[in-house]
Amino acid sequence: MGCAISGSDLTAASGPHERRDADEHHQTPAQLTQHQIHIIKESWKVIQEDIAKVGIIMFVRLFETHPECKDVFFLFRDVEDLERLRTSRELRAHGLRVMSFIEKSVARLDQSDLLQTLALELGRSHYRYNASPKYYGYVGTEFICAVQPILKDKWTPELEQAWKTLFQYVTHIMKDGYLEEEKNRRNQAVTSTKQRPDKRQTAI
Ligand code: HEM
Repeated sequence: MGCAISGSDLTAASGPHERRDADEHHQTPAQLTQHQIHIIKESWKVIQEDIAKVGIIMFVRLFETHPECKDVFFLFRDVEDLERLRTSRELRAHGLRVMSFIEKSVARLDQSDLLQTLALELGRSHYRYNASPKYYGYVGTEFICAVQPILKDKWTPELEQAWKTLFQYVTHIMKDGYLEEEKNRRNQAVTSTKQRPDKRQTAI
């Protein structure tokens, strides 16, 4: 289950401390260099061949290392035996959805406005799934651990840093989307409570 991953900056960007999270929210996410974009795209060609396998490994590892994430999933929260999940059709399908998002992100690395829209919308949907940003950093860590053995000697510290930066970027924008949706919902709730007394007046 262990995985040699250098540094801890991937999870630090969305660590478990909400206060630090709030401070970091205003920082600009790291940008990828042209060279990093190139090596990510090259490595993706290899990862792509094992896309379903990576999706499953990534989520089983996520649930092993952070069981609190499993509780967010209606489909998986009651599964006690994580080994069973390795053959679960539902986890395979979910892993593929997430991997297909990563694929789209890689394809949009040269069009940052499109990537931003995609990640913002994903963050909004994660508010609806009740999946807090404090967990997002874990996914990148588990992705890196899952792809390392697939890339074998093609895996380098430089490539690891490039993938970390991409995940930091995406999860930063996802968090913006999450917070935006949270704010919208709060405003809607305030508006509807303000409207309720008026309705009562007209009914009398
Ligand atoms: C880098 C981080 C993550 C990425 C890229 C990601 C990506 C996705 C994608 C592509 C979907 C498919 C549905 C959609 O497009 O809205 C999805 C669904 C979902 N995600 Fe995530 N996710 C991330 C982190 C997390 C974490 C950490 C959790 C839980 C703690 C989580 C919980 C969920 C849930 C509950 C769903 C809905 C599942 C269903 O279909 O019933 N996600 N995610």
